[in-house]
Amino acid sequence: MPDLSAQLHGLHGDVEVHKDDAAVAEAAAKLLTRQSAEVCATSGRFAVALSGGHTPATLFALLSGDMYRTRFDWPLWAVYFADERAVPPDDPASNYRFARETLLDHVPVDPHRVHRMPADGPDLDAAADEYAVTLHGDLAEGPGHAPRLDCILLGLGENGHTASLFPGTPALTVTDRWVTRARADYAPFDRLTLTYPMINAAALVVFLVSGASKVEALRETAAGRTPAAAVQPENGRLLWLIDAAAAGSD
Ligand code: 6PG
Repeated sequence: MPDLSAQLHGLHGDVEVHKDDAAVAEAAAKLLTRQSAEVCATSGRFAVALSGGHTPATLFALLSGDMYRTRFDWPLWAVYFADERAVPPDDPASNYRFARETLLDHVPVDPHRVHRMPADGPDLDAAADEYAVTLHGDLAEGPGHAPRLDCILLGLGENGHTASLFPGTPALTVTDRWVTRARADYAPFDRLTLTYPMINAAALVVFLVSGASKVEALRETAAGRTPAAAVQPENGRLLWLIDAAAAGSD
Protein backbone atom coordinates (compact mmCIF):
# COMPACT_ATOMS: atom_id res chain seq x y z
CA MET A 1 0.00 0.00 0.00
CA PRO A 2 2.78 2.48 -0.78
CA ASP A 3 0.29 5.11 -1.84
CA LEU A 4 2.03 7.46 0.49
CA SER A 5 2.18 11.13 -0.32
CA ALA A 6 5.63 12.66 -0.01
CA GLN A 7 4.51 14.97 2.78
CA LEU A 8 4.03 12.04 5.12
CA HIS A 9 7.58 10.75 4.95
CA GLY A 10 8.49 12.72 8.06
CA LEU A 11 6.18 10.68 10.27
CA HIS A 12 8.06 8.61 12.81
CA GLY A 13 7.40 4.89 12.85
CA ASP A 14 5.78 2.70 10.25
CA VAL A 15 3.14 4.16 7.97
CA GLU A 16 0.42 2.28 6.15
CA VAL A 17 -2.07 4.02 3.89
CA HIS A 18 -5.28 2.09 3.33
CA LYS A 19 -8.17 2.61 0.98
CA ASP A 20 -10.69 3.94 3.49
CA ASP A 21 -11.77 4.00 7.10
CA ALA A 22 -13.04 0.41 6.91
CA ALA A 23 -9.69 -0.81 5.58
CA VAL A 24 -7.89 1.07 8.36
CA ALA A 25 -10.12 -0.65 10.92
CA GLU A 26 -9.50 -4.03 9.27
CA ALA A 27 -5.73 -3.52 9.42
CA ALA A 28 -5.96 -2.52 13.08
CA ALA A 29 -8.17 -5.51 13.89
CA LYS A 30 -5.70 -7.90 12.25
CA LEU A 31 -2.80 -6.33 14.09
CA LEU A 32 -4.63 -6.53 17.42
CA THR A 33 -5.48 -10.17 16.77
CA ARG A 34 -1.80 -11.04 16.38
CA GLN A 35 -0.56 -8.76 19.09
CA SER A 36 -3.06 -9.80 21.71
CA ALA A 37 -2.50 -13.52 21.01
CA GLU A 38 1.26 -13.09 21.29
CA VAL A 39 1.19 -10.98 24.44
CA CYS A 40 -1.48 -13.12 26.15
CA ALA A 41 0.59 -16.24 25.43
CA THR A 42 3.67 -14.79 27.08
CA SER A 43 2.25 -12.66 29.89
CA GLY A 44 -1.31 -13.91 30.38
CA ARG A 45 -2.74 -10.44 29.81
CA PHE A 46 -3.09 -7.81 27.11
CA ALA A 47 -3.02 -4.27 28.49
CA VAL A 48 -4.46 -1.81 26.02
CA ALA A 49 -5.42 1.85 26.26
CA LEU A 50 -8.30 3.15 24.15
CA SER A 51 -8.97 6.66 22.88
CA GLY A 52 -12.16 8.56 22.30
CA GLY A 53 -13.18 10.50 19.23
CA HIS A 54 -15.14 9.13 16.29
CA THR A 55 -12.34 7.30 14.50
CA PRO A 56 -12.25 4.10 16.61
CA ALA A 57 -15.98 3.51 16.05
CA THR A 58 -15.40 1.41 12.92
CA LEU A 59 -12.70 -0.64 14.63
CA PHE A 60 -14.79 -1.21 17.75
CA ALA A 61 -17.74 -2.35 15.62
CA LEU A 62 -15.45 -4.76 13.80
CA LEU A 63 -13.90 -6.16 16.99
CA SER A 64 -17.28 -6.77 18.56
CA GLY A 65 -18.85 -8.15 15.38
CA ASP A 66 -19.12 -11.77 14.25
CA MET A 67 -15.88 -11.85 12.33
CA TYR A 68 -13.52 -10.82 15.14
CA ARG A 69 -15.30 -11.29 18.46
CA THR A 70 -14.22 -14.90 18.83
CA ARG A 71 -10.61 -14.28 17.88
CA PHE A 72 -9.65 -12.64 21.16
CA ASP A 73 -9.07 -13.91 24.65
CA TRP A 74 -11.20 -11.07 26.02
CA PRO A 75 -11.06 -12.08 29.69
CA LEU A 76 -7.29 -11.54 29.48
CA TRP A 77 -7.66 -7.97 28.20
CA ALA A 78 -6.95 -5.19 30.69
CA VAL A 79 -8.50 -2.03 29.31
CA TYR A 80 -7.32 1.48 30.11
CA PHE A 81 -7.91 4.88 28.53
CA ALA A 82 -5.60 7.37 26.87
CA ASP A 83 -7.73 10.31 27.95
CA GLU A 84 -11.09 11.24 29.40
CA ARG A 85 -13.30 14.28 29.74
CA ALA A 86 -14.35 15.49 33.19
CA VAL A 87 -17.86 14.14 32.88
CA PRO A 88 -19.77 11.31 34.54
CA PRO A 89 -19.22 7.85 33.03
CA ASP A 90 -22.70 7.83 31.50
CA ASP A 91 -22.34 11.25 29.86
CA PRO A 92 -22.55 11.26 26.04
CA ALA A 93 -19.11 12.95 25.99
CA SER A 94 -17.46 10.22 28.07
CA ASN A 95 -14.82 8.15 26.28
CA TYR A 96 -15.54 5.33 28.68
CA ARG A 97 -19.21 5.40 27.76
CA PHE A 98 -18.35 5.36 24.07
CA ALA A 99 -16.01 2.37 24.47
CA ARG A 100 -18.51 0.55 26.64
CA GLU A 101 -21.43 1.04 24.28
CA THR A 102 -19.54 0.31 21.09
CA LEU A 103 -17.19 -2.44 22.26
CA LEU A 104 -16.91 -3.47 25.89
CA ASP A 105 -20.60 -4.29 26.42
CA HIS A 106 -20.50 -6.66 23.46
CA VAL A 107 -17.46 -8.77 24.30
CA PRO A 108 -16.64 -10.92 27.34
CA VAL A 109 -14.07 -8.61 28.93
CA ASP A 110 -13.69 -8.92 32.68
CA PRO A 111 -15.36 -5.77 34.10
CA HIS A 112 -12.76 -5.75 36.89
CA ARG A 113 -10.11 -5.31 34.25
CA VAL A 114 -11.73 -2.27 32.65
CA HIS A 115 -10.18 0.82 34.22
CA ARG A 116 -11.93 4.03 33.31
CA MET A 117 -10.20 7.30 34.13
CA PRO A 118 -11.97 8.81 37.16
CA ALA A 119 -12.18 12.22 35.55
CA ASP A 120 -15.61 12.91 37.06
CA GLY A 121 -14.15 13.36 40.56
CA PRO A 122 -14.01 16.77 42.25
CA ASP A 123 -10.20 16.96 42.12
CA LEU A 124 -8.61 16.21 38.74
CA ASP A 125 -5.07 16.23 40.11
CA ALA A 126 -6.04 13.62 42.68
CA ALA A 127 -7.82 11.64 39.95
CA ALA A 128 -4.69 11.75 37.78
CA ASP A 129 -2.61 10.44 40.69
CA GLU A 130 -5.17 7.74 41.38
CA TYR A 131 -5.05 6.54 37.77
CA ALA A 132 -1.25 6.61 37.78
CA VAL A 133 -1.28 4.41 40.88
CA THR A 134 -3.58 1.96 39.07
CA LEU A 135 -1.27 1.86 36.05
CA HIS A 136 1.81 1.52 38.21
CA GLY A 137 0.26 -1.27 40.26
CA ASP A 138 -0.95 -3.24 37.26
CA LEU A 139 1.82 -2.95 34.71
CA ALA A 140 5.49 -3.81 34.45
CA GLU A 141 8.00 -0.98 34.22
CA GLY A 142 9.01 0.28 30.82
CA PRO A 143 11.45 2.93 29.65
CA GLY A 144 11.92 5.75 32.17
CA HIS A 145 10.29 3.53 34.84
CA ALA A 146 6.89 4.32 33.32
CA PRO A 147 4.22 1.61 33.41
CA ARG A 148 4.39 -0.17 30.06
CA LEU A 149 1.14 -0.72 28.19
CA ASP A 150 1.15 -3.44 25.56
CA CYS A 151 -0.75 -1.22 23.16
CA ILE A 152 -2.20 2.29 22.94
CA LEU A 153 -4.71 3.25 20.26
CA LEU A 154 -4.56 6.95 19.48
CA GLY A 155 -6.44 9.35 17.24
CA LEU A 156 -5.30 12.60 15.67
CA GLY A 157 -7.25 15.82 16.14
CA GLU A 158 -7.51 18.36 13.35
CA ASN A 159 -5.20 20.64 15.34
CA GLY A 160 -2.65 17.85 15.76
CA HIS A 161 -3.56 16.88 19.30
CA THR A 162 -3.59 13.31 20.41
CA ALA A 163 -5.11 11.84 23.56
CA SER A 164 -5.76 15.17 25.34
CA LEU A 165 -2.31 16.57 24.60
CA PHE A 166 -3.44 19.83 22.99
CA PRO A 167 -1.17 22.37 21.27
CA GLY A 168 0.17 25.04 23.60
CA THR A 169 -1.02 23.46 26.86
CA PRO A 170 0.93 22.63 30.03
CA ALA A 171 0.17 18.92 29.70
CA LEU A 172 2.73 18.77 26.88
CA THR A 173 5.56 19.58 29.24
CA VAL A 174 4.74 17.11 31.98
CA THR A 175 7.66 14.72 32.34
CA ASP A 176 7.35 13.55 35.93
CA ARG A 177 3.87 12.02 35.91
CA TRP A 178 2.16 9.29 33.94
CA VAL A 179 -1.25 10.96 33.97
CA THR A 180 -2.12 14.64 34.16
CA ARG A 181 -5.02 17.01 33.98
CA ALA A 182 -5.43 18.68 30.61
CA ARG A 183 -7.28 21.75 29.54
CA ALA A 184 -7.21 23.85 26.38
CA ASP A 185 -9.14 27.13 26.26
CA TYR A 186 -10.36 26.25 22.81
CA ALA A 187 -11.53 22.68 23.52
CA PRO A 188 -14.51 21.69 25.62
CA PHE A 189 -14.11 20.01 29.03
CA ASP A 190 -11.39 19.64 31.57
CA ARG A 191 -9.72 16.33 30.99
CA LEU A 192 -7.27 13.70 32.11
CA THR A 193 -4.66 12.41 29.72
CA LEU A 194 -1.75 10.02 29.64
CA THR A 195 1.50 11.99 29.38
CA TYR A 196 4.28 11.60 26.84
CA PRO A 197 6.49 9.56 29.20
CA MET A 198 3.61 7.12 29.69
CA ILE A 199 2.67 6.93 26.02
CA ASN A 200 6.24 6.63 24.85
CA ALA A 201 6.90 3.74 27.22
CA ALA A 202 4.31 1.54 25.49
CA ALA A 203 5.29 -1.53 23.51
CA LEU A 204 3.04 -0.57 20.60
CA VAL A 205 1.34 2.71 19.73
CA VAL A 206 -1.11 2.77 16.85
CA PHE A 207 -2.57 5.93 15.36
CA LEU A 208 -5.85 5.54 13.48
CA VAL A 209 -6.39 8.47 11.14
CA SER A 210 -9.12 8.79 8.56
CA GLY A 211 -10.93 11.45 6.58
CA ALA A 212 -9.95 14.47 4.51
CA SER A 213 -10.26 16.76 7.55
CA LYS A 214 -7.00 15.26 8.85
CA VAL A 215 -4.78 16.07 5.84
CA GLU A 216 -3.35 19.24 7.35
CA ALA A 217 -2.86 17.72 10.80
CA LEU A 218 -0.97 14.81 9.28
CA ARG A 219 1.27 17.10 7.25
CA GLU A 220 2.00 19.24 10.27
CA THR A 221 2.73 16.13 12.30
CA ALA A 222 5.08 14.82 9.63
CA ALA A 223 6.84 18.18 9.84
CA GLY A 224 7.20 17.76 13.60
CA ARG A 225 4.93 20.67 14.49
CA THR A 226 2.10 19.04 16.46
CA PRO A 227 1.73 17.32 19.83
CA ALA A 228 1.21 14.03 18.00
CA ALA A 229 4.69 14.35 16.50
CA ALA A 230 6.23 13.86 19.94
CA VAL A 231 4.75 10.39 20.22
CA GLN A 232 7.85 8.32 19.61
CA PRO A 233 7.94 5.16 21.72
CA GLU A 234 11.35 4.71 23.28
CA ASN A 235 11.54 0.99 23.02
CA GLY A 236 8.40 0.08 21.19
CA ARG A 237 6.74 0.21 17.79
CA LEU A 238 4.86 3.17 16.37
CA LEU A 239 2.41 2.51 13.55
CA TRP A 240 0.30 4.97 11.59
CA LEU A 241 -2.80 3.48 9.96
CA ILE A 242 -4.09 6.18 7.64
CA ASP A 243 -6.78 6.19 5.02
CA ALA A 244 -6.25 7.62 1.54
CA ALA A 245 -8.43 10.67 2.24
CA ALA A 246 -6.36 11.65 5.28
CA ALA A 247 -3.14 11.01 3.37
CA GLY A 248 -4.33 13.42 0.72
CA SER A 249 -4.07 10.75 -1.95
CA ASP A 250 -7.77 10.18 -2.48
C1 6PG B 1 -10.81 12.38 22.47
C2 6PG B 1 -9.53 11.83 21.99
C3 6PG B 1 -8.84 12.60 20.94
C4 6PG B 1 -9.24 12.02 19.58
C5 6PG B 1 -8.93 12.97 18.46
C6 6PG B 1 -9.45 12.47 17.14
O1 6PG B 1 -11.19 12.05 23.57
O2 6PG B 1 -11.44 13.14 21.74
O3 6PG B 1 -8.96 10.83 22.61
O4 6PG B 1 -7.46 12.65 21.05
O5 6PG B 1 -8.63 10.79 19.39
O6 6PG B 1 -9.51 14.21 18.74
O7 6PG B 1 -10.84 12.48 17.22
P1 6PG B 1 -11.74 11.96 16.02
O8 6PG B 1 -11.46 10.51 15.90
O9 6PG B 1 -13.14 12.25 16.47
O10 6PG B 1 -11.33 12.74 14.83
